Amino acid sequence: MGGKSCGIHKGAKMQPSEIVMNLRQVFLSVLMFGVAGLLLFMYLQAWIEEQHTELRTTNYFQPAPRTISREKLQQKIIDQDSKHQVLGELKQNNESFIITKTFSGSLSEVSHLKGDAQALSEPIGSPNNKLYEQHRVTKSLFKKLNQITWPLDSRPLNKSLIKGDKWKKTDATQETRRAFLQDFCKKYGNGNHAQSHLFHMVSRIYVEDRHKILYCEVPKAGCSNWKRILMVLNGLASSAYNITHNAVHYGKHLKKLDSFDLKGIYNRLNTYTKAVFVRDPMERLVSAFRDKFEHPNSYYHPVFGKAIIKKYRANACEKEINNGSGVKFKEFIHYLLDSHRPVGMDIHWERVSKLCYPCLINYDFVGKFETLEEDANYFLQLIGAPRGLTFPNFKDRHSSDERTNADVVRQYLKDLSNMERQLIYDFYYLDYLMFNYTTPFV
Ligand SMILES: *[C@@H]1O[C@H](CO)[C@@H](O)[C@H](O)[C@H]1NC(C)=O
Ligand SMILES: *[C@@H]1O[C@H](CO)[C@@H](O)[C@H](O)[C@H]1NC(C)=O
Ligand SMILES: *[C@@H]1O[C@H](CO)[C@@H](O)[C@H](O)[C@H]1NC(C)=O
Ligand SMILES: *[C@@H]1O[C@H](CO)[C@@H](O)[C@H](O)[C@H]1NC(C)=O
Ligand SMILES: *[C@@H]1O[C@H](CO)[C@@H](O)[C@H](O)[C@H]1NC(C)=O
Repeated sequence: MGGKSCGIHKGAKMQPSEIVMNLRQVFLSVLMFGVAGLLLFMYLQAWIEEQHTELRTTNYFQPAPRTISREKLQQKIIDQDSKHQVLGELKQNNESFIITKTFSGSLSEVSHLKGDAQALSEPIGSPNNKLYEQHRVTKSLFKKLNQITWPLDSRPLNKSLIKGDKWKKTDATQETRRAFLQDFCKKYGNGNHAQSHLFHMVSRIYVEDRHKILYCEVPKAGCSNWKRILMVLNGLASSAYNITHNAVHYGKHLKKLDSFDLKGIYNRLNTYTKAVFVRDPMERLVSAFRDKFEHPNSYYHPVFGKAIIKKYRANACEKEINNGSGVKFKEFIHYLLDSHRPVGMDIHWERVSKLCYPCLINYDFVGKFETLEEDANYFLQLIGAPRGLTFPNFKDRHSSDERTNADVVRQYLKDLSNMERQLIYDFYYLDYLMFNYTTPFV
C-alpha cells in the first residue's frame, strides 16, 4: 500500500483529492468564521467604548443616575464642580452613599488581600492585575473629557506650633520645594481627569487620624521608618525602635486612604496635612535593585528574577532560569526599559509620579531622602507630635550593606551604556523635573 500519499495522484482516483478539497473547504470555512467573529468582536468593542463615552458626556449635563459601576461612580464625582456638591448629594442620596461605601470597601479588601500576600510588592500592572488594565482603559476614555477642575487647593503650611528659629533653614527649603512643585504642576500638570482613577490615586496613601496626616508611601525613600512613626503617632506602638520590619509591612495596623468611602477620602484630602518623601530617582532605583536582587528573596527572585533572566540573559541555561537569583543590574535595566516587560512594574521602582500623583494630590510637605531626618523632624513639629518623638535613622534590612549613595550608584552605572543611562533618565523624567533633581550620570 506504499506511496499513496494524499493529493499526489491527480485524476486517477477522485476520492482522496475530494477529501482534500473537503478538508480545505472545512478549514477555510472555519477560518472565515473565525475572522468574521473577530471583526464582530472588534466592532462590538468599539461600539461599547462609544456607548461609554456617550454615557459620560450625557451624564455631565444630567443629574447623575444611581448606578453601581465604579466607572460611573467616578464619573459622578467628575460631574460635580466641587467636593461640597459631592458630599451634599451623597448625604441626600442614601442609596448612592451606600453603594459608594460598599464599593470602596470591596476595593480596599482587594488591596488588603494583596497586602497580606506581599505587603510591599504588589506589582502594579502585573499580568493578573485586571483592575489596573481597567484603570488604563478608563483613563484613556476620560482623557476625552476635559471640563473638570480638581477641588484640591494648595494651602499654606500651618506653622503655629513652630517656635523659635531652629527650623528656619529647613522651612525655607520646604517652601522652595512646595513652590517649585506647584509651579511645575501649574505649567505641565493636567488635573483634568484626576477623578477618573481616584481610588488608584489614593491607594498608596497612609492615614493617621489623630494628627491628621496623609503620607504617600514611596518605597526606598525612608518609608519603613515613616510607617513606624505613623504607628507611634497613632498609638499602635510606644516606640519606633520596637517595631520589626515585618510588623511594619505585613501588619494591618495602618489604614490606607482607599479603605474609606468617598466622603472619608475627600474630607481627609481637604483637611489633613499631606506629605510625600522622595529620593533621587537613580539612587532609588539602585537601592531597589540591591535590596530585591542581591539578597535571597522568596518573591522577587521567583517572580521577577526568573522572567528577567529568561528574557534578557543570552544563552541562559535552564538552571539559572529556574533559580531566578543572580539577576545582573544590566539585565534588570533591560527589563525596566522594555515596553513589553515579561512581568509588571513594582512599587519599588515605579515612578513617584505614578505612585503618589504629586500634581493631583497637592502635597503640603515635600520631604527628601537626602535630608530625611531634618525634614521628617520638622514635619513632626508641624503636626504637633509628642515631644521627644524623633525620626529613627536606622536601616532595618541588610543593615551591614553600605547605604546606596552617589558613589555606589556610580559603580552600578559603570555597567551601562550612555544610551541606557539616558533612557533611565527619560523613564524617570517627571520625577526628576517635579522634585528638581539633577543627574550627574547622564
Ligand atoms: C438614610 O438611611 C438611614 C439608614 O441607612 C435611614 O435611617 C435614614 O432615614 C435615611 N435617610 C434618608 C434621607 O433617606
Ligand atoms: C493651625 O494649628 C493650630 C494647632 O493645631 C490650630 O489651633 C489652628 O486652628 C490651625 N490653624 C489653621 C488656619 O488651620
Ligand atoms: C521597646 O523599646 C524600649 C526601649 O528601647 C524597651 O524598654 C521596651 O521594653 C520595648 N518594648 C517592647 C514591647 O519590646
Ligand atoms: C538559587 O541558587 C542559590 C545559590 O546558587 C541557592 O542558594 C538558592 O537556594 C537557589 N534557589 C532556588 C530557588 O533554587
Ligand atoms: C534646583 O536644583 C538646583 C541644583 O541643585 C539648585 O541650584 C536650585 O536652586 C534648585 N531650585 C529650586 C527652586 O529649588
